[in-house]
Amino acid sequence: MTMTYENVLAEIENGVLTMTVNRPDKLNALNVKTIEELHEALLEAENEKEVRVVIITGAGTKAFVAGADIAEFSGFSIEQGRQMSATGHFKLFNFIENYSKPVIAAINGFALGGGLELAMACHMRVASDNAKMGLPEVSLGLIPGYGGTQRLAHLVGKGKAFEMVVTADMVNAQDACQWGLVNHVTTQEELLNKCKEIATKISAKSGMAVKTAIRVINAGYNNHLNGYEVEIEEFGKMFGTVDFKEGVSAFLEKRKANFSKN
Ligand code: COA
Repeated sequence: MTMTYENVLAEIENGVLTMTVNRPDKLNALNVKTIEELHEALLEAENEKEVRVVIITGAGTKAFVAGADIAEFSGFSIEQGRQMSATGHFKLFNFIENYSKPVIAAINGFALGGGLELAMACHMRVASDNAKMGLPEVSLGLIPGYGGTQRLAHLVGKGKAFEMVVTADMVNAQDACQWGLVNHVTTQEELLNKCKEIATKISAKSGMAVKTAIRVINAGYNNHLNGYEVEIEEFGKMFGTVDFKEGVSAFLEKRKANFSKN
């Protein structure tokens, strides 16, 4: 990765790209520039064979991301509001959900509004025990606009999603874990290590299989597709891959698989 960014720190280590939203004095609020930079970094990393897994976190000890930048959208018209949402979906939230490499959110503090929506667009979430998560948009006379109305219900069920959205209440890390909103809870010190531990496990597996699994799981949440049918087709196609041949040979020869880096 060659690019440097104003609001995003990007670092690759052992096959893991860690992207840190870096506006701590604004609790890492997502302005247009930050969304654009996250998009560019992800785009660049997509073709970078060295990158196997992405971790997204926030700078500082207080916040993951405290939402979309309220100051930036405060004067928006109806059309600008619609555009803000559409661009965000396209460039960041749907982009992450459909990314070809697993993306893990390391929620190190407040994940509110667009911050929780960012975490929910990721494939997995790990939270530190000080984290607080919520969709407080109704307090601002808004609704979630970066996929929160849909993804929260998918993760925690409709009833809890309704309650969180219409009360604007925050949930703590322990409850979020019980509800399935986050996969694991750690101390703040251990948060990135836990994410890297998951990333290391993924990195040893077939990248082709991991990429396909992401696409097929997502297909089940796409109203235009039948996830089971997509699974049948994609399962069949895997038999034509070099990774399948290597994985099965390695098993039969009782050795560790050495998968391609594609
Ligand atoms: N957009 C823009 N700026 C934000 C922000 C956001 N979503 N969240 C925090 N900030 C800024 C604050 O304006 C403040 O900036 P300033 O120092 O220039 O005044 C700075 O970040 C620190 O925040 P502050 O509110 O002073 O911290 P706090 O500890 O008192 O409260 C929160 C923390 C998270 C409870 C509070 O910042 C908050 O409610 N943020 C907005 C959350 C929200 O509604 N998000 C959804 C947006 S759609």
